[in-house]
Amino acid sequence: MTPAARISAAITVLDQILAGSPAEQALLRWSRASRFAGSGDRAALRDLVFGALRQRDSLAALGGGLTGRELMIGHVRQSGPSLDAIFTGEGHAPAPLTGAEAAVVPPDPLPDDLPDWLRPAWRQALGDQADAVALAMTQRAPVWLRVNGSRATPEQAAAVLAADGITVEAAPQLASALRVVTGDRLVARSSAYLDGLVELQDLSPQMACARLPLAPGLRVLDYCAGGGGKALALAARQPGMQVSAHDVAPARMADLPARAARAGAKVQIQTQPRGTFDLVVADVPCSGSGTWRRTPDAKWRLTAAQLSDLVALQARILDQVAALVAPGGLLAYMTCSLLEAENGDQVDAFLSRHPGFRRIDQQAWTPLTGGDGFFLAQLRQG
Ligand SMILES: C[S@@+](CC[C@H](N)C(=O)[O-])C[C@H]1O[C@@H](n2cnc3c(N)ncnc32)[C@H](O)[C@@H]1O
Repeated sequence: MTPAARISAAITVLDQILAGSPAEQALLRWSRASRFAGSGDRAALRDLVFGALRQRDSLAALGGGLTGRELMIGHVRQSGPSLDAIFTGEGHAPAPLTGAEAAVVPPDPLPDDLPDWLRPAWRQALGDQADAVALAMTQRAPVWLRVNGSRATPEQAAAVLAADGITVEAAPQLASALRVVTGDRLVARSSAYLDGLVELQDLSPQMACARLPLAPGLRVLDYCAGGGGKALALAARQPGMQVSAHDVAPARMADLPARAARAGAKVQIQTQPRGTFDLVVADVPCSGSGTWRRTPDAKWRLTAAQLSDLVALQARILDQVAALVAPGGLLAYMTCSLLEAENGDQVDAFLSRHPGFRRIDQQAWTPLTGGDGFFLAQLRQG
């Protein structure tokens, strides 16, 4: 496909997303209907669409409105090559600009690409970093790997990845983390991944798991395990623990046994956790506001009502897990959100309902520290 044909495809897909279709579904629909497109075309289209969603409001301002076509006019105005080279109307290229489209004068400064209703909470949470973090959210997220220490050293993992065409660099923040420099789309098919030397995991949750005090024999429960990213990270860091995984939707853990087998880790699935645990991880459902570089359509879909439903659900989960923490044990509350309502305020409210717990550690990460936005509070019982 020519660059102009890819822009045309992006216009079609963006219009579907703007009409309410989830981004992944719209991209999949386009791929199925466009058998002529190669993997390079699909990857380029994905980049165009996700890039436009990350910068939806600023591209709309540059393009003169909020349609797929106007977003792509904004994109070409911002990144080139030139509008005349792309919007030719020839072959599969989009139609030439109208007089009104050509005459758009973008505002200065451009919008910050945050939903209006959320801006006050964003500023309250991030203070003088609010603008820098909003800007970072408009960029593509790096791909991070976690090296499984029981299978390989970071150097060995890097060498195996290199043989599959993937280059990585060490993270200054954490020895077991590698940032993918080239070949990110090859990772899931690489032998380092298939043989359990590395897992795909963002840097910030890796750093959060690395903060937790572990010891052989510890009874650990990952209460909102989903795919099991936290359970596996903890099992890899400290062999000899009894790691259990639970999720209200057990189907979400379907891949966990295979992932654990790949990593050589033992994780026991518990549909109804009984008794108490020395460490309970509650990686709760959240707005995902820390991960909007990866799921930029979610940034525009989230509503105030959904956020308050999530905050209520998080409080309910915290109340449930409090009973599962052994005396003297630790509750690790995690979100991939940047918002105080889901983070510090949520923990404050929990501590006022559960005076038997005290906060011993609290840490937030933002894209300015390399990974996604993430939050950890460690709450000790007793
Ligand atoms: C943020 S995701 C977890 C991601 C996972 N820990 C990982 O690292 O891949 C939140 C999970 O919480 C689960 N969940 C939602 N409500 C729950 C509840 N009341 N009790 C337990 N799990 C719940 C969801 O099914 C979802 O899998």
